[in-house]
Amino acid sequence: MTMASRESRLLASAVEAIGQTPLVELSRLTRTVPGRIVAKLEYLNPGLSKKDRIARQMIEEAEAGGALRPGQTVVELTSGNTGTGLAIVCAVKGYPFVAVMSKGNSVERSRMMRALGAEVVLVEQLPGSVPGQVSGGDLERVEQETRRIVRERDAFRADQFVLLGNFRAHCEHTGPEILAQTGGQIDAFCDFAGTAGSFAGCAAAFKAHSPAIRCFVVEPAGAAVLAGEPVTRPHHKIQGGGYVMPDLRFLNRQHVDGYLQVSEEEAIATARDLARKEGLFAGFSSGANVAAALRLLRGELRGKTIAVLLCDSGLKYLSTDLWE
Ligand SMILES: Cc1ncc(COP(=O)(O)O)c(C=O)c1O
Repeated sequence: MTMASRESRLLASAVEAIGQTPLVELSRLTRTVPGRIVAKLEYLNPGLSKKDRIARQMIEEAEAGGALRPGQTVVELTSGNTGTGLAIVCAVKGYPFVAVMSKGNSVERSRMMRALGAEVVLVEQLPGSVPGQVSGGDLERVEQETRRIVRERDAFRADQFVLLGNFRAHCEHTGPEILAQTGGQIDAFCDFAGTAGSFAGCAAAFKAHSPAIRCFVVEPAGAAVLAGEPVTRPHHKIQGGGYVMPDLRFLNRQHVDGYLQVSEEEAIATARDLARKEGLFAGFSSGANVAAALRLLRGELRGKTIAVLLCDSGLKYLSTDLWE
């Protein structure tokens, strides 16, 4: 047996173990569907999500550019995954880290960040908001609290909505890794957008390789602002994105070939299928990505090969109804 897809040399720290994740074909889920789906197992990163990549990139770019001083406090607004990545990178590199998060995100996330040495500040949801369903309004509240803490502590803000490290982590690593793992033989990519960092970064890498690779933004049904659809359901269970923010800094519309909407029921059913049929234990947004890819294979991309990310681990949702 060979272990070709992961590093086999001795690594200096958990930070070096970020990235170079395996790519797996979902042959069981596509048995009765024309075409192929290849899934990048981002949940195998040390913090169990793709966001470890951007945490490392944002911190290392800030170190290199002098924006982050030795020992300075790092602060970020997070739905949990970026915070977990930052907690790991900051623990290894010796920066105190404060994660500011909505109470609406699952409890596993704040526990994991605390275990990794982070200070976690939980912000109450707006009146009427539903736990487990973080809305744009809830996020605005978290944003205000994050700004206050950054000022108060003279901290460096690892702002994933603004810092280009988010885009570059995926443009320089995730996308090129997928191209290398497939010999460049993919026809399409679809990705559930939060900051749109992974969509934009991977799409830029794919389009540079071949403009024929079609890239689709995935959003929750009823909250598809990027597609220009009316918002009928701002609250949904697909944590990590679908925040109803029409302007996302990294999203280059010239790289968007289409928009797909996935209901939370579809995302849940597909995440469960991934676990049961493929042995891949991932979260809601991974289910959304695969549901979108299956729809494309049954429709306009019949017979093609589609790449998706399995964004984070199913372990992050043990307290939710995903695994009831
Ligand atoms: C589980 C999960 N899925 C998807 C996303 C969206 O990724 P991006 O911010 O790169 O659009 C996030 C972002 O936090 C996430 O945590």
